[in-house]
Amino acid sequence: MKILVTGGAGFIGANFIQHVIRERADWSVVNLDVLTYAGNLENLKPVEDDPRYRFVRGDVADRDWVEATGEGFDAIVHFAAESHVDRSILDASDFVNTNVLGTQNLLDWARAGGASRFVQVSTDEVYGSLGAEGKFTEDTPLAPNSPYSASKTAADLFCRAAFHTHGQDVVITRCSNNYGAYQFPEKLIPLMIANALEGESLPVYGDGMNVRDWIHVEDHCAGVLAVLERGESGEVYNLGGNSERANLDLVRGLLDILGKPHELIRFVKDRPGHDRRYAIDASKAEATLGWTPRTTFEDGLRATVDWYVANREWWERVRSGAYREYYERQYGSR
Ligand code: NAD
Ligand code: TYD
Repeated sequence: MKILVTGGAGFIGANFIQHVIRERADWSVVNLDVLTYAGNLENLKPVEDDPRYRFVRGDVADRDWVEATGEGFDAIVHFAAESHVDRSILDASDFVNTNVLGTQNLLDWARAGGASRFVQVSTDEVYGSLGAEGKFTEDTPLAPNSPYSASKTAADLFCRAAFHTHGQDVVITRCSNNYGAYQFPEKLIPLMIANALEGESLPVYGDGMNVRDWIHVEDHCAGVLAVLERGESGEVYNLGGNSERANLDLVRGLLDILGKPHELIRFVKDRPGHDRRYAIDASKAEATLGWTPRTTFEDGLRATVDWYVANREWWERVRSGAYREYYERQYGSR
């Protein structure tokens, strides 16, 4: 298999590329990434010298770049996106450009011979917000509430249209909140770990009772691979980790693991339109693909804390912006 991974320098994409190189000995991977603030080639150090891996810098929202990537891929696994809700509230334009236009560009190029199968890596946030009971299934109506989730929903609908109108081989995954190594420290878990290690306050939005359903990134990567290999064309697959936690409980647990005082928690103004609760019913993927999440939240969180403690230089370079020098050093002369 020869696959194109978009957004492979980001958190989940980099974990996915490492996963594929490790788990599929005869596959090759091209990573197409424009390297926004969230793209960090240091995330790919373990595979950068592997002959089965190649990096191409390019923007999915620019058709010329997409076409220049080459063609004849067996599949595109499309991670590239603007991914942070808070940034989408400040300015949604990059979200429309990358998440919506970028997805349509890739679909068009795939149909023109770029690639056979298209895996759209989407999110449970397209379903909106839950009350105290129930879980999202693949039949839950789409009801995005943030500019981020609206852009992902639009992209999912273009994927649906490509399947129905053009008969393209498209599958969609919708996963809950990921955590693990290489996550940019603007998202809840790495932000809180880094702040706690620096002795800074931990900003919890609102009353801290918003619930997220956490999945370890390795389980998500295994799920995306299962959908790529065994998913039925035109279908949607929810992926989740069966680990609902209120933000405040999660942050307190992190402080306990780190041996830091709960007094570091600071309640701050709530996020506008803040979704209250997400919970995933992943029984379709479990029943039809033989996939199941393997990491318990307790084990995964501890391992993640250990990773951020052991890789302090990684997140300090991200926070200071120094990680951007790596591209020039590594690729500047090529
Ligand atoms: P991330 O922000 O860490 O990484 C995004 C990557 O995409 C970066 O490397 C960035 O440089 C690249 N990129 C952005 N715009 C691009 C463009 N125009 N052209 C090419 N590359 C571009 O994101 P992540 O957390 O790894 O999420 C990856 C995907 O998974 C996204 O599609 C996101 O919607 C989805 N997802 C994320 C989560 C989560 O909890 N993080 C959960 C479910 C689904
Ligand atoms: P986040 O990691 O941004 O993911 P998403 O908004 O896509 O679920 O946020 C996870 C939860 O943590 C969400 O309920 C918002 C909350 N949160 C805070 O309370 N403080 C913070 O500083 C951040 C970044 C998030």
